[in-house]
Amino acid sequence: MAKFTLTTSIAKAEALGCQDAPMYPDCGILGIKHVRYIMDADKKKLFPDMLIDRQQLMSKIHGREVSTFKNETIGQIIYFTSDPDNNKAMLATQFADYDLGPARRGNMIRTLGDGIFVQDNKGWEHSRAMLRPQFAREQISDLDLEENHVQNMMKAIGPVEADGWTSEIDIQTLFFRLTLDSATEFLFGESVDSQILEMPTSNSQKTGLEKAFAHNFDSAQAHMARSFRLGDMYWLHNPREYKENNKVVHEFVDYYVNLALRGNLNTDKKMEEGQKKHKYVLLEALGQQTKDPLELRGQLLNILLAGRDTTSSLLSWFFHQLLRNPEVFEKLRSTVIDTFGAYEDPQDITFANLKSCQYLQYCLNETLRIWTVVPGNGRRTNKATTLPRGGGLDGKSPIYLPPQTDVNFSSHVMHRRKDLWGPDAEEFRPERFAGRKSGWE
Ligand code: HEM
Repeated sequence: MAKFTLTTSIAKAEALGCQDAPMYPDCGILGIKHVRYIMDADKKKLFPDMLIDRQQLMSKIHGREVSTFKNETIGQIIYFTSDPDNNKAMLATQFADYDLGPARRGNMIRTLGDGIFVQDNKGWEHSRAMLRPQFAREQISDLDLEENHVQNMMKAIGPVEADGWTSEIDIQTLFFRLTLDSATEFLFGESVDSQILEMPTSNSQKTGLEKAFAHNFDSAQAHMARSFRLGDMYWLHNPREYKENNKVVHEFVDYYVNLALRGNLNTDKKMEEGQKKHKYVLLEALGQQTKDPLELRGQLLNILLAGRDTTSSLLSWFFHQLLRNPEVFEKLRSTVIDTFGAYEDPQDITFANLKSCQYLQYCLNETLRIWTVVPGNGRRTNKATTLPRGGGLDGKSPIYLPPQTDVNFSSHVMHRRKDLWGPDAEEFRPERFAGRKSGWE
């Protein structure tokens, strides 16, 4: 393995025409002040906006859009970028030079176990090959499964009163339950039915295990998010509650893994008039590829995290935006009724038709743009490499990165850049996607 000294680094950087990126000011000794700033924003639930403030301050100091810069965090120099060209390099053109890094793996593996979200290289290729065929259209387009859980959500919202309104509800909580319910049915063959269990009038046959799983999975994720802010020192955050959360989550999934290994999963899809049909269950399909119970648990929990919060966050922000933009709401409502009919008289509601309903897609895209579901992310170099832009006084030179350098990136910051999205970047305007060919921005 090549040895990297400061002199070889400087020589290589010069040969590649690289220049360094500016440094964020006032990080304090060993970057401790900077960590406090991040933790404070986190506590106020304003972490993504803190990332925007940081970039705006850098841009003000340097008199240009500074979309790539360095900071210090507990003695570690970390790069930050919201430049689409740099994202393209990390995620596509120079993909092999970057890993997820040990902090992400070490932190997330405590809850999720080994799976696609914590793996690099051969491990990732193995998971990818295993999971890719599972996301073929026929397997993810079971609208009946979704409809059943949507009906439960309607029940949870409660009856419409004489004045035409239901009582006050927190729709975000309901969406998180909806996606947990449909995801668990897709993964394990049986839903945790958290929506029904949480109803005051529930007389569900299910035990408290489902409720415990839902609560402990949420709590484990909150701990995971807190550990992330500590970078390589993520292990400093490991309270007893987090360990207990992980234990409950693992035991719950192991129950279904054991059922699958014995061939006893519930894979019946109930049809009208008492008929039954075999339904697709991810655990059953993966069980045909591996009998390793730890691998099965890991892959399932990785997918649960990937698919559940993302979808419920998108749905929550989507309704948040529709309520604040009545003209968009009206246009979308008439598009939906024209395309799919009214509730009492539905027509052609298929996966393909949902995908080709353009205005619906624009509204979802615009929600994902302005309220980015994964606002911050990062990679670590596994060899000496470059970021194509951000170095030098004008920010146009490549930047040389030694091995083991962290680069954080933020779609939240990038999606709100006026130089990329126009002066109305902070407005919710789905029409901006009409005819737009989106690139890495
Ligand atoms: C609005 C919904 C969703 C959003 C915004 C979203 C976002 C993302 C993002 C940003 C990543 C990249 C993470 C990284 O590289 O660090 C990712 C990866 C992934 N997502 Fe999603 N996701 C969504 C829904 C889903 C669903 C429903 C599933 C599955 C049921 C899923 C499965 C995955 C998987 C397996 C990966 C890893 C891919 C790989 O490493 O090759 N996602 N998603």
